[in-house]
Amino acid sequence: MNLRPDPGEYMKTQGDRVSSYLASVFADNEEPAVLFEAMNYSLLSPGKRLRPVLCLAAARTFGVDEQTVLPAAAAIEMLHAYSLIHDDLPAMDDDDLRRGRPTNHKVYGEATAILAGDGLLTFAFEQLAKPLAVDPARQLRMLHVLARAGGPYGMVGGQQADILGERQAGSAQQLQFIHAHKTAALIEASVEIGALFAELGEDKLSALRTFGNQIGLAFQIKDDLLDVVGDPEKMGKSTGADEKLDKLTYPRLLGIEQTDHMLNEVWQSALTALDDAQIDAPLLVALADFVVRRNS
Ligand code: IPE
Ligand code: IPE
Ligand code: MG
Ligand code: MG
Ligand code: MG
Repeated sequence: MNLRPDPGEYMKTQGDRVSSYLASVFADNEEPAVLFEAMNYSLLSPGKRLRPVLCLAAARTFGVDEQTVLPAAAAIEMLHAYSLIHDDLPAMDDDDLRRGRPTNHKVYGEATAILAGDGLLTFAFEQLAKPLAVDPARQLRMLHVLARAGGPYGMVGGQQADILGERQAGSAQQLQFIHAHKTAALIEASVEIGALFAELGEDKLSALRTFGNQIGLAFQIKDDLLDVVGDPEKMGKSTGADEKLDKLTYPRLLGIEQTDHMLNEVWQSALTALDDAQIDAPLLVALADFVVRRNS
């Protein structure tokens, strides 16, 4: 691997690498078989692998080999896969299609889908707590970062606010809270965890957190936009889902044009965070570009 890998190529090769690693996480013939099958069904389905690749890219930016970081990146994708299984449940967004396939509860039923999510969430921490080739104090910090981003102060809190926001007038402030917690928290954590593998000072770490947070916000703004204007074939999930549940989203609050404008602003501020801290990170910049340009 050279120091300036081609970004498109990087996403593809490292995404595939994460997928192969995930495929080896659970041994064959574990019991109860249906639980492991349901966990693998969602974990190994074709997602974009954005969060684990961001984690690898953050580490690579500071010269850390991806191989060292892979278990941590995989833990992040497990937590993400759990969040998708639960997000799709009838009691939440009630979706039938995810990553181009029937949702977990459609295939395995609600009880197993809930348990498959619980299993992936818990196993993510088992995985991140295994001995890694990193200073134990920094590994402990990674555990804290992931727990905070996935829990009530992060993704879970955001999901609760998202549900409460359905069929409500809602304010820009409320929407900002939803996006920051349900989505940006885990994307920010992905960048921070990757960066924690390198010996960086707090100033650089703080700039990288801001970068991660801003691309996390951009990611959810784009997700809301694609729910209105995207192609369900390309996305592998239904469009119009937010309107159906009368979710609080930027397209609903501001209209498409203003939402595009907002997307551009947060993307810019992500890049500014890197520039201000004099972080030269072509891979991270390319991933930020992917977040705003993507159509899936
Ligand atoms: C979907 O995330 C959930 C959101 C936070 C919008 P992704 O769009 O990254 O889903 P996958 O992993 O590619 O399926
Ligand atoms: C979900 O947001 C964020 C999660 C934490 C899973 P959405 O409900 O908008 O995600 P999609 O559109 O179903 O992927
Ligand atoms: Mg949702
Ligand atoms: Mg949803
Ligand atoms: Mg959505």
